[in-house]
Amino acid sequence: MQIGTIVLEAPVVAAPMAGVTDKIFRRILREAGAALTFTEMISAKGLYYRNSATWELMDLKGEEGRVVVQLFGREPEIMAWAAREAVKAGAAWVDLNMGCPTPKITRNGEGAALMRDLPRARDIVAAVAEVIYPVPVTVKMRKGWDEGEVNAVEAACAVVEAGARAVTVHGRTRSQFYSGRADWEIIRRVKEAVGVPVIGNGDVWRPEDALALMKATGCDGVMVGRGCLGNPWIFSQIRALLDGREVPPPPDPRERLGMALRHLRMAVERKGEAKGVKEMRKHLAWYLKGLPGAARVRQAVNNEGTLAGVTALLEDYMARLNSADRSR
Ligand SMILES: Cc1cc2nc3c(=O)[nH]c(=O)nc-3n(C[C@H](O)[C@H](O)[C@H](O)COP(=O)(O)O)c2cc1C
Repeated sequence: MQIGTIVLEAPVVAAPMAGVTDKIFRRILREAGAALTFTEMISAKGLYYRNSATWELMDLKGEEGRVVVQLFGREPEIMAWAAREAVKAGAAWVDLNMGCPTPKITRNGEGAALMRDLPRARDIVAAVAEVIYPVPVTVKMRKGWDEGEVNAVEAACAVVEAGARAVTVHGRTRSQFYSGRADWEIIRRVKEAVGVPVIGNGDVWRPEDALALMKATGCDGVMVGRGCLGNPWIFSQIRALLDGREVPPPPDPRERLGMALRHLRMAVERKGEAKGVKEMRKHLAWYLKGLPGAARVRQAVNNEGTLAGVTALLEDYMARLNSADRSR
């Protein structure tokens, strides 16, 4: 897959996820085989008004050229200014959010609300495309606002005409948020309608889903969201499948816990102990999901505030799994 002048080594990328795809998780995802990762969505206005928490999200040091910055906002001039800053920071390209369903965002006419205001969406894309050329701008959108307003094809054509060099389509409407099944048919229809690469998104939970999504829609690449939470291994599995190589087996519990511990250490190193441990709770729950007796460990982890404490809980649990294995 090629977007603008950027050639991806595989057509498999990790989705932008607010509160999840921070610098550390992005590194893990890339090492696991994601050809490219996206930042969490970043407020263009927050950057413009020098909000320090927003600027922290723009720290791409050490990953320049391998991460896409996703911006959200509604003012073309501010979006263009922020896009230029993203390129300065080392973004491979800039992606514009037209999919966020959260009322706090859509109420301001941002995120998925832009699907209901295509003239504005077009103005934003054109303004960004002009200032960051030749760096590409792309758009991530949904199927539509609701079942009565399914307009991804029209929206995709509009943003491509304005200069978007690829579009990602999440096959759910805004009113579905993240529930129900993603509609892959709308992705096929967008692919048929536009001349730029289309990245399909929604419900890639297992490696085979990625192949099925590409087959069903003709999309050029796939984007994995929730399917990679606690499961970065899905990327190497998908890539093996796409290359016709033998698919590596899923990680055993020790491998999963080993990754969880490494992720935890990296988080604490970057964010400090209190913040790192707290922010890791959701990731640890995802790594533990499906393992025997995971609920109890998760509960204990959630009551522990230190790196040493959480490490001990996970190491104890690993030892118990090992001895259960041996006694079998
Ligand atoms: C916790 C979470 C945070 C998300 N944050 C963003 C975001 O910042 N920007 C965005 O475009 N999509 C965001 N999404 C949507 C995902 O990128 C993706 O489109 C969606 O989860 C569907 O893919 P999936 O079925 O593979 O999970 C988020 C999804 C989740 C679950």
